[in-house]
Amino acid sequence: MKPKHHVFVCMNQRPPGHPRGSCGTAGSRPVMDAFAAELEKRGLFEQVFVTGTFCMGPCDQGPTVVVYPEGVWYGRVKPEDVGEIFDRHLEKGEPVARLRIM
Ligand code: FES
Repeated sequence: MKPKHHVFVCMNQRPPGHPRGSCGTAGSRPVMDAFAAELEKRGLFEQVFVTGTFCMGPCDQGPTVVVYPEGVWYGRVKPEDVGEIFDRHLEKGEPVARLRIM
């Protein structure tokens, strides 16, 4: 089975007050939960894979989400953004410009 999109959500958690911050302290858990809920609701298990990762680099812009095969990087993603990422990017192939960091 080859998915159409693979979404990586940084779940790295550093202690509060760490100088680099982290996606975990910025709220990546609720973002991951929103991706899981949206995947369930839309039944796209064979088209979209969602994987939690460790640090991917831009910690100060977290929660960081990367979507392949396009290699689109999203930053400061909130749970309420996830539906739009599905609607526009994962279902229509149009990245959400307002969330892009790379
Ligand atoms: S902690 Fe998420 S990108 Fe570094």
